[in-house]
Amino acid sequence: MEQSNAGSPRSGGAQRMLRAAVVGSGGISKEHLSFLSGQSHLTGTSVHHAQLVGVCDLSPVSAQYAARTYGEAEAFTNLNTMLAEAKPEVVHILTPPTSHVPLATACLQAGSHVICEKPITTTSAELDALLDIAAGADRRVMESHNYRFNAGTEELAEALSSGKLGTLREVEVRIALPVTDPAGRFGDPNLPSPIHQLPAGVIHDFTTHFAYLLLHFAKGVHFDRIAAAWSNHDENPLFRYDNLDALLIGTGPEGPVHGRLRFDAGAGPDQFSLRVYGSDGWAETDLFQPNIRVVMPRSGGGQLSPIVNHVVNGASLFRDGVANVGRKIMQRTPYEGLHRMLAMTYEALATGGELPVTVSDMRATSRLVDSIIADKVRI
Ligand SMILES: NC(=O)c1ccc[n+]([C@@H]2O[C@H](COP(=O)([O-])OP(=O)(O)OC[C@H]3O[C@@H](n4cnc5c(N)ncnc54)[C@H](O)[C@@H]3O)[C@@H](O)[C@H]2O)c1
Repeated sequence: MEQSNAGSPRSGGAQRMLRAAVVGSGGISKEHLSFLSGQSHLTGTSVHHAQLVGVCDLSPVSAQYAARTYGEAEAFTNLNTMLAEAKPEVVHILTPPTSHVPLATACLQAGSHVICEKPITTTSAELDALLDIAAGADRRVMESHNYRFNAGTEELAEALSSGKLGTLREVEVRIALPVTDPAGRFGDPNLPSPIHQLPAGVIHDFTTHFAYLLLHFAKGVHFDRIAAAWSNHDENPLFRYDNLDALLIGTGPEGPVHGRLRFDAGAGPDQFSLRVYGSDGWAETDLFQPNIRVVMPRSGGGQLSPIVNHVVNGASLFRDGVANVGRKIMQRTPYEGLHRMLAMTYEALATGGELPVTVSDMRATSRLVDSIIADKVRI
């Protein structure tokens, strides 16, 4: 049985506020909870898309702190109790990845829709089984593909679809983050993160972002040649890998497309860059320090195009530099796309419209993650 992308709202009229709860009140919950409590990250204004009715965490202190900070929701330490007492129509699952399947199953079977942090499951076979459970319960389940909804990602996708860059030749996604830092959330040897339990360790946790971003730009491309070098350059015993260098080659409607996916725990500063290369031009952004650079044919022809590109990109660098100072002062995070995605999700759930991340997006992403971490593609 298949979960439909456009499901029916449980009851009530269009756009009414749904009763929402979260399970897991750790790091990423701040973003979900600020959205649910109506503090719009996008506009700075207060917009309520849902009514927060419950916060659940194994730690009572954490659950109570979050429930009080983000509204007047009740705090719980047991998901089944929260489902029975708070009766949420939507549950955000924000716990470590290996707990997602049992928690999502309990929510769906209790009649709640599920918005789940990535990776929703650790394999695509598990995802297929979970989607069957959702279909059987007539509820919807959606994995967060938040960076797809950042303004920079959207601008690159628009540059591609406008044809300004020609036909797509290559997509590069590069993340540099010091995940092995002993003072960070993954590197503390005294309190090992559950993320280390994923088959490909900490970098596995980022592979969902790589996969959905690559597929977002390379629409209709089937990547059938994959080679992935997984390394532990620092030989930190807590980590399976601290470096990924993956090359994917596929064929799409307009010819061959290469994908380059890089994760480096040793390179600095922090970076989350996206580059799309076409037959006529290329564009890049960094989701951590938003700025768009587009190099493409400009009016004036081949002689003037390089100069016009420099002038236009220089002006944009200055403008985005000022905007980034503003973001710093306002303490904006790179999660603007998460807030945009959640607003679209609540609208879809309330009206029965299509979710921003569809079942086929989730299946394709999960299958690509399977392929990238598979033993047979390792070099
Ligand atoms: N989309 C993104 O950009 C993004 C960013 C960061 C994290 N994440 C994802 O979000 C998820 C959570 O990450 P985090 O950094 O917030 O983790 P975290 O360790 O900071 O928080 C997880 C919380 O879940 C609680 N928890 C664990 N098992 C539970 C259970 N069975 N019932 C109730 N509570 C439980 C823990 O006590 C903890 O407070 C992960 O899947 C991670 O990959 C996504």
